[in-house]
Parts: sequence; structure tokens; C-alpha cells
Amino acid sequence: MKYDFTSILDRKGKDALAVDVVGAAGQPFSYPAPKEGFDVIPMWVADMNFPVVPTIQEAMIQRAKHPTFGYFLPRQEYTDAIIQWQKEHNGAQVQPENIGYENGVLGGVATALSVLCSKGDHVLVHAPTYVGFTGTLSNNGYHIVHSQLVQDEAGTWRMDFEDMEKKILENKIHAAIFCSPHNPTGRVWEKWEVEKAMELFKKHDVMVVSDEIWSDIILNGNAHVPTQSVSEDAKMRTVSLYAPSKTFNLAGLVGSYHIIYNKLLKDRQDKESSLCHYNSMNVMSMYALMGAYTPEGSEWVAQLNETISGNVNFACDYIEKHFEGVTVCKPQGTYMLFIDCAGWLKKTGKTMDELLQAGWDVGVVWQDGRAFHGASHIRMNLALPYSRVQEAFDRLNKYVFNA
Ligand SMILES: Cc1ncc(COP(=O)(O)O)c(C=O)c1O
Repeated sequence: MKYDFTSILDRKGKDALAVDVVGAAGQPFSYPAPKEGFDVIPMWVADMNFPVVPTIQEAMIQRAKHPTFGYFLPRQEYTDAIIQWQKEHNGAQVQPENIGYENGVLGGVATALSVLCSKGDHVLVHAPTYVGFTGTLSNNGYHIVHSQLVQDEAGTWRMDFEDMEKKILENKIHAAIFCSPHNPTGRVWEKWEVEKAMELFKKHDVMVVSDEIWSDIILNGNAHVPTQSVSEDAKMRTVSLYAPSKTFNLAGLVGSYHIIYNKLLKDRQDKESSLCHYNSMNVMSMYALMGAYTPEGSEWVAQLNETISGNVNFACDYIEKHFEGVTVCKPQGTYMLFIDCAGWLKKTGKTMDELLQAGWDVGVVWQDGRAFHGASHIRMNLALPYSRVQEAFDRLNKYVFNA
């Protein structure tokens, strides 16, 4: 491969939440340190353990050589880069006036909801649920109404359209969050699924906040279907949110954007997000996006997806062969595994807390799935060099699931 997806990066002391909170008791949030003899394999928070595509650093370094960092205007190249990326990767014909800056995708979700809802309104969200939605919605005073995804005979997570309709009617819902691809299950919704959901939203006048932060990380030949692409109505009822942060591992730089075609919604989103005076771009993150959304960036993402596909295929095969009582629906996008340990817990009589601790003890820093509404689930980040993923599963085999 042209780019480096095999070097093991030492992120300790390099401003990385993924490793710096391990063994950091006394911090507001921490994971226990591993036992003697085991190093840390970070498999929780959604960032990656690969070096970025070099064009990102080059763009930032070039700019940093100029010794002023005063007030600035977003560059034309910034908007052009987004338009080109969206055209190439999502087949979207975006105009500059459809694009708006958002510090973060969750901030964009919160702003969109303040446009669409009154405080205390009910908002439809699928369960399992990304923990960030739970925090943002409750922090902003909305009532979360969950519609549970259900696993079909093949184990694939599907939307339950009947349940969604029932919840919409019962709770007079007019705003939904649609996570596509879905975190934490890793579902890349098929076209008919997006169409059917959007028809339902149209039928009941539900406006949609479509979180597509994961839309570039698509595995094993699957294809992302942008929510706004499925019909003219979907295009006009949806606030879509994107970011280079997840795709290129730039969360520490901050910087996302919305795409809104509906003029009323667009003006309201811009107005609402201006109120706090904090929603403004950082000059270095502007350069990071311009370095990311390049032909090299596209090539890097293709290799990233190949690498993650390999990791996901390895992990799912390994679980099936070696971990009796553990099941997983192979993710089609994202780099997250959402494994269900119900059978193993039942068989061994162990608790979730004991299981999680057993992993942490041997340096596998995985994440409690209960915060994502998975009663017996663990969420695992596979955006690491293959050798690290192999090492993690070897430790889980020897010391946790088959100890
Ligand atoms: C679905 C989803 N939305 C939003 C975010 C966070 O985005 P941001 O940091 O831009 O708020 C994440 C991060 O993992 C995510 O998985």
C-alpha cells in the first residue's frame, strides 16, 4: 500500500484521549491500567491509530510558516474542496450556499434541533444509540424516543418501520435523527431502507437530521446512500451533517459542516448557530480540510477502507470460530464492532463488569456497550494496524473468553 497503515504509533503524551485516560485515576473519566506485562491497545473512543494522509500535515505546515494568525475569511478553496468531495464521493451537486460551517457534528445536531423543536419535544432516535446523541439530546432538554433496531434471520440490524410509525404518532414527533452509516451497529443502510424511512418521515411531517459523519468509511464493497439523494422531498426535509474529522482522524482539530438545500431551514440553521458566537472556523482546521479533501486524500481513504475491511473480516471470523456465546453483525461501515456477549455471560455466569475488567486487565481497552443501549454488548474500535488487532484478539482468546 502507498500509505502507512502498519506502523504502531506511540500516542502516549501526544494529546490522545484514547491512551491518556488509561490508568489515569482521579481524572473525571478513566480506564483502569492493564496488569504488568500488557501494553495498552486503544479500542474504544472513535479515533484512529494511523498516521494521517501527508497532504494534511503539508497544508498545515505550509500555512504555519506564515507568522500571523489573525481574523480570516474562509477561503474559496475550502468551499471548492467540499463541493468536489461531495460530488466525487456522494454524487451530490452542492452549491456554496448549501454549505455551512459547524464546529462539530453534535453541535450541528443540537442547532438543527433548536430550529426544528421546542424544548421538551420528543425526538425519534434508533436504538442502539450513539452515546453522543443521548448526551446532546438530554443536555438540551429533549425527550428521546427510541425505536429499537431489530436483527433479521441473518443477524442484520434493520429499522422497524411499524415501530417508528407508532412512536411518531404516539409522541407527536416532528424531528428525527438518522444516523447513516449507523453507529454503533455499523449498518450502511440500503437504498430501499433510506427511501422507506424518508417516505415515513414525509407521511408524518417529520424533519430529519441526518448524521453522515461516517459516510466515507464504507467496507467490503458496500455503498453509502446520502439521505438527501433519495427524493426531492428528502432533499428538502433534511439537515445533513458531514466532517473530515472521522474520515481523516482530525477530531482534535475540530471542524464539520452541514449541507442544507431548503432555504428556510438553511437560514434558520445559520441564524441559530450564530447565537452562541462560538461556532467559527479555526484557520488551521480549514487547511487540514483542504489537505484532506484532495486526490491523495481519496486514495488514502480507499486504502483505509481496505485496511479496516481486513480488520473487520478477521475479527468477525475470529469471534465466530473462537468465542462461543459471542455474536456480532459484521459492520458494513464505520470501524466499530458491536459484539453481543449474552450467550457467553449466561454460559459462564460472569457479569458484564467482570468481562469488561478482564479485557482491560490485559490491555484491551474496549468500551461498555450499555451506554449505547446494548445490554450485553461491547463496542470495539478496529482502526488500528492489523498486527494490533490480531494481538488484541489473541489476548481475548487466551485470557478472557477462553481463560
Ligand atoms: C455518529 C456520530 N456523530 C457524531 C460524532 C461526533 O462528532 P463531533 O466530534 O464532530 O461532534 C461521532 C463520533 O464518534 C459519531 O460517531
